[in-house]
Amino acid sequence: MLDKVTAKSAMKTDTTEIITSMKRFREPPVRPHAGDVAIVGAGLIGLSIAFELASRGATVRVYDAAEPAHGASWAGAGMLAPLTETIKDESLRRLCELSLRAYPAFTQAVTAASGIDAHLRLDGLIYAAFDSATRDDLLMRAERLQQRGFPVRTLDHREAIAFEPVLGKRLVGAILMEEEGHVDNRRLGRALSAACSALGVAVKAGAGHVRVKHDQRKVLGVWTDDGFFAAGVVINAAGAWAARVEGVPPDCVPPVFPMKGQMLALALPPALIRHPIWVPDAYLVPREDGRLLIGATVEDCGFDSRVTAAGIHVLLDAALKALPVLNDFAITETWAGLRPATPDLKPFIGATPLERYFLATGHFRNGILLAPVTATLIADAVEGQEDETLRLFALQRSQPEHAHV
Ligand code: GLY
Repeated sequence: MLDKVTAKSAMKTDTTEIITSMKRFREPPVRPHAGDVAIVGAGLIGLSIAFELASRGATVRVYDAAEPAHGASWAGAGMLAPLTETIKDESLRRLCELSLRAYPAFTQAVTAASGIDAHLRLDGLIYAAFDSATRDDLLMRAERLQQRGFPVRTLDHREAIAFEPVLGKRLVGAILMEEEGHVDNRRLGRALSAACSALGVAVKAGAGHVRVKHDQRKVLGVWTDDGFFAAGVVINAAGAWAARVEGVPPDCVPPVFPMKGQMLALALPPALIRHPIWVPDAYLVPREDGRLLIGATVEDCGFDSRVTAAGIHVLLDAALKALPVLNDFAITETWAGLRPATPDLKPFIGATPLERYFLATGHFRNGILLAPVTATLIADAVEGQEDETLRLFALQRSQPEHAHV
């Protein structure tokens, strides 16, 4: 385990690297680009990569079977929470932390190019306990994280209520992840689409099944419902559908599968809740317009994306047990999305055995969080700069034997 000093200094080095790399968003391209790039999948991952590569001077086309940023990118709650998510794999947790630190520069660059504010808020996330066993677990967790130098604070009842008055009398204890927060992922999707257009990226919605064309050694381009488009680089960012991108050799197909998440929204007065709140079995994420998002189920049921009575029941039960004050608010929306999961729950980011064919998929619960760092890593890889980090997220790493979690 890293001690406090090591963790902090390692973080500083990585942060410096990320900040340096993120500066590219604001500066004119300084390196030769890699030619025409085709990206399969216009979710936040695909669009972030397109934005980064176009910022560096590449000519980029993005293909999606549906509308841009309307899959898991639209369905998520936009929570940016690497510590709260309890990510067991150290390399993935560190990647998530790097991406969190990159978020302010990333959203600034996207807003500058698009004129759309994605409502990034990194002013804390509360993890709340309503019984003494959960509180004791939280306190132990906070202590472990503090010992490793992470910005986590324990809150007594008074402090927690001052932070979020809605937590009420039943609260027994809480911890505050001081630097975590949220972004409005739907606004970010719109902002990224506009930013990509501003940089000349062609985003083709309704592209149908995309088929990759190659000559056994390297990619040549993609077939879509509109015909063939030559490309020197193809990037599979098709989320839960990544294993269905056709035409590639079998050893380039990522073992990605869908994991459904159902959610709902309540209409609250704006600012009644200001920070994301984790409660047992659910999380609550506020939006600037007053909506409170409540999520999310984790269901292994293939490509079934229906909202079900049982799914909504589970979420409401957890949310209302914790915060009975929510009982009387109207439900304004229910929806479901398909997270791209992998057998070891780590994403696939980087090269494949097929030359110039890259993967950026399998981000499971952390796709929105990992968008900035994925974009930087993939753009670097496309330009021939292989980052050591990518070995940990390579398609060829060993996988657990069971197909699903
Ligand atoms: N990141 C939260 C979720 O996937 O439900």
